[in-house]
Amino acid sequence: MADIFDFGSLETPLSEKTAQKLDSEHGISQREHFVIPTQADLKRRTITASKNDTAQENHKSSIYVCGNSLGLQPKCTKTYIERYLSTWSTQGVYGHFKSLDDELTKPWMNIDDQASAAMAPIVGATPNEVAVMETLTANLHFLLASFYKPTAYKYKILIEGKAFPSDHFAVQSHLAQHNYSAREALVLLEPDDSDKHYFSTQHILDTITEHAGSLALILLPGIHFYSGQFFDIKNITAHAHAHNVLIGWDLAHAAGNVPLQLHDWDVDFAAWCTYKYLNSGPGCIGALFVHDRHTAVANSPEKALESSSAPNDVLTGGLEAEKRFGFRHRLCGWWGSSKTTRFEMDNVFVPIAGAAGWQVSNPSALDTTSVLASLSVFERAGSVVELRKRSVLLTGYLEYLLLNWPTVDGGQRPYTLLTPVNPEERGAQISVRLDPGLLDGVVVDLEAEAVVVDERKPDVIRVAPTPLYNTFSDVWNFVDILSRSLEKRRKAS
Ligand SMILES: Cc1ncc(COP(=O)(O)O)c(C=O)c1O
Repeated sequence: MADIFDFGSLETPLSEKTAQKLDSEHGISQREHFVIPTQADLKRRTITASKNDTAQENHKSSIYVCGNSLGLQPKCTKTYIERYLSTWSTQGVYGHFKSLDDELTKPWMNIDDQASAAMAPIVGATPNEVAVMETLTANLHFLLASFYKPTAYKYKILIEGKAFPSDHFAVQSHLAQHNYSAREALVLLEPDDSDKHYFSTQHILDTITEHAGSLALILLPGIHFYSGQFFDIKNITAHAHAHNVLIGWDLAHAAGNVPLQLHDWDVDFAAWCTYKYLNSGPGCIGALFVHDRHTAVANSPEKALESSSAPNDVLTGGLEAEKRFGFRHRLCGWWGSSKTTRFEMDNVFVPIAGAAGWQVSNPSALDTTSVLASLSVFERAGSVVELRKRSVLLTGYLEYLLLNWPTVDGGQRPYTLLTPVNPEERGAQISVRLDPGLLDGVVVDLEAEAVVVDERKPDVIRVAPTPLYNTFSDVWNFVDILSRSLEKRRKAS
């Protein structure tokens, strides 16, 4: 159970002093290890500040509560990237293999193993079950290619009705690949009540039960991008398996946000990006998880090749190779093939046992370096479980202020909250639905005060106090500025 703190029991829960007191009691977590854009940074039309720009306000931090969209930059990222650039400039191709005394990452040839090991604890997996590779949608494609194996009776895919569009597109294209139309083979999970955007676990389980006879696969979000709802991954996965249905999870909004135990929860597969709560930079390399159960390679390369009359024959690829080595089908590339034989260039795909066997291309060392930098901040912070304690408090405080902030005329607040009230059912994000017509003006006001949130038209702002770098004062300032903006915009309308 998450620790639920009653903010109403504080002496003056709505005062700024209380926010400052909470900060002094709970510390600032890893904030000093991040570059927080200043107010002047956000207002400038150039990337770099002019030397004459020394005004005091230039050093005032912005209120950045947008880590659910793009996480901020850890300070160490610059050092890691500079080290990468120096390795490239001083070593050229040797950078792939040569260990250097002052390296921060392994030589590029093995940087993928280092990244899997660093990423595994974030999602509760063994290093063997994680590959840091490609990007989220691309990884969903790779996983669907492996796990969607329709039969005459079980051929449908269940996704959430308003799934992130990219997931929707990916799933539809795999149905089409197998000659199914969305109408015949796509099952959409709708919320219990369409206006509330909430999915009770019972409703999800019932929907799975209802379609189980024809379902081949389920793909759901760990945390819903729009409402911030945290799904009960463990019980939904168990229920899918009880009905003989494979299940995968899009963890874009969950990785680095909430504790996950993908291995113990028996999840079949999952994919996520690293640019939100994992702070690796825009469009940076993503990651995937494949449970140990699915990654085994039954026959050792030696044994498999022995049983082949012509090991170098092109027939050792494709279905032939899958049978001989005994591994789950995937879309293959050379980086998923054994490191010991990879450079023999003989067209024999020798799958790496583990999620690494799903790799296709050599991963961007630049991207992976950035991931390793940002994961080093998580290592310093301790576990995601530790961060979650702070996150529950910060998000609870945000919710409390939003629900209790006084309005000037004592009337109703011009917004409702879409995110579940139970801390167990949400991560760091609260989605605020503004009354119709307010969004555009509010976004202008927030920007003018250097408050960064994420907007979803026509009327939602998503606010994410990120435990690594946000403070209680950030939350207080956000609610104060939002409330003043709403009063102004309401009067003007
Ligand atoms: C829930 C979810 N799924 C998929 C994506 C697509 O990610 P990418 O562009 O990295 O493939 C996003 C991007 O924000 C997302 O939030």
